[in-house]
Amino acid sequence: MDLNSISLAPIRAKTVAILGYGNQGRAQALNLRDSRVSVVVGARAGAGYRLAEKDGFQPMAFETAISKADVVMYLFPDQVIPEIYRETRQFLKNSHWVGFAHGFCYHYGWIEKIEHCQYFLVGSKGAGAVLRDAFERGSGLPGVYALENENAELEILVQSYAKAIGLTSHVLLKTTFQEETECDLFGEQTVLCGGLMELMEAAFNTLVDEGFNPEMAFLECCYEAKTIIELWMKYGPYGLTQKISPTAFFGGLTRGQRIIDEKAKAEIKRIFQEIRSGAFAEEWKKEVEKGEPQLQARRERIKTALLEKTYQGLVRQGLN
Ligand SMILES: NC(=O)c1ccc[n+]([C@@H]2O[C@H](COP(=O)([O-])OP(=O)(O)OC[C@H]3O[C@@H](n4cnc5c(N)ncnc54)[C@H](OP(=O)(O)O)[C@@H]3O)[C@@H](O)[C@H]2O)c1
Repeated sequence: MDLNSISLAPIRAKTVAILGYGNQGRAQALNLRDSRVSVVVGARAGAGYRLAEKDGFQPMAFETAISKADVVMYLFPDQVIPEIYRETRQFLKNSHWVGFAHGFCYHYGWIEKIEHCQYFLVGSKGAGAVLRDAFERGSGLPGVYALENENAELEILVQSYAKAIGLTSHVLLKTTFQEETECDLFGEQTVLCGGLMELMEAAFNTLVDEGFNPEMAFLECCYEAKTIIELWMKYGPYGLTQKISPTAFFGGLTRGQRIIDEKAKAEIKRIFQEIRSGAFAEEWKKEVEKGEPQLQARRERIKTALLEKTYQGLVRQGLN
């Protein structure tokens, strides 16, 4: 895809309703406005509403925002989208294009589709705050988009939207709702929010249990994860082998596979199958119905753990 050929004109000819002013909502609304796209923000009375006002928007009720827009973006936490969608779907008209930043609710049937609307997703490969930072620096993030049905007019519009929020400076991949949803969940669970976090914490705790200074353990097992990933991204898997010491390379090659062994690989596969079969989505639905007790307990545990205290201490000393 020739990203330079994507024009802002199609999205500038529309009005976009950003519903929800959180991580993605704020970043997308600000980037759209800076790209000279007409934006209205729908928010409930709360923190997002106040922040939108501070940012110079005039937030309004969801149905009012929908009535003013051609493109309607549902940018709430995935577990909240079904409820708000149910309450607002009556206001979606024939001419509305309905978008999400992640395919979860659409793919697992958590929302009931309306025949006369066209659905799409456009997602950034990075959190909202990173998307906004990159945009402000004149760059952007890799992005993906998917359309419910092949539709040339919608595709041009969605590509234009992607450009306006800063997703066309590197890579913009066309995907499907299924591919985006399954790959996104899989990456989060096995690497980004699951495997990597558990690995850093387990390694940190091991050094601390052995009597080492927690700050030393943090720098070795957590801070350096950031620097090695930056190197890996800059030079690639092979290039990295020439940037690290032979001792580090040998230690990694003889020990890494003891952690990611055949049992771990089978578990990774099982995690994928739970995503594919919908078992994970069902488990998440039950957690939401119970008021998210596991999430709250885990958050509390992380908040009070030595890892967090060590991180806060290092940040106070200027670590970034
Ligand atoms: N985190 C990311 O940057 C990221 C990256 C890629 C894709 N995504 C996707 O983007 C979408 C949005 O995620 P997010 O992380 O941006 O969400 P978020 O920051 O958690 O969304 C918060 C917003 O939702 C509102 N909200 C929450 N519960 C509500 C309710 N019951 N009724 C009305 N408003 C409610 C909040 O209002 P208050 O301020 O009043 O609480 C706030 O405006 C999701 O589909 C997610 O998968 C997110």
